[in-house]
Amino acid sequence: MLCNDEMRKGILSRLRGYRYEHSLGVERAARRLAEQYGEDPDRAGTAAILHDITKHLSPQEQLNLCEKYGIIPCAVEKSEPKMLHGKTAAAIARAEYGMPEEICQAIACHTTGRNRMTLLDKILYLADYIEETRDFPGVDQARELAKTSIDRALLYCYDQTLIELVTRGKLIHSDTIAAYNDMIRQGIRWREA
Ligand SMILES: [Fe+2]
Ligand SMILES: [Fe+2]
Repeated sequence: MLCNDEMRKGILSRLRGYRYEHSLGVERAARRLAEQYGEDPDRAGTAAILHDITKHLSPQEQLNLCEKYGIIPCAVEKSEPKMLHGKTAAAIARAEYGMPEEICQAIACHTTGRNRMTLLDKILYLADYIEETRDFPGVDQARELAKTSIDRALLYCYDQTLIELVTRGKLIHSDTIAAYNDMIRQGIRWREA
């Protein structure tokens, strides 16, 4: 069994305040997307409740977990260790909860995206972006696109994220560029031609 009721409760008890509500929202959205696009809702839901399990940790604590689990941060991650929360959450999912590799992989790339994302990776990334408590410009368009094409919705999310990062003068992770390029190379576009 992936995640029984007791394990689910244990995981949720580690989440506080907004993050608890957000994680339940991601779980609902991920299960719904899984049903819609042919992924296992239990795998998607389990990845969802674990995805932000380390997000409350400080930059130093993120780096400590990297040391513990043999994660080598890149230059961008060293400058912004909070970005590592996907990778550290994946390490916890693997080490403490014995989660299968595909679930850990989806958790690991939920912040940045990556080249050649699996359906499960895409579902978690998108669910994190569009879950019901999210309220920011563009979220409705992402929800709309998600009704008909997970790839178009995902590319829209990358576009918005990249625009936001550039506008705010923030660092861009190379995996986000790789994720964007992968979609573009496959001919995916979200605007109507
Ligand atoms: Fe996250
Ligand atoms: Fe999240």
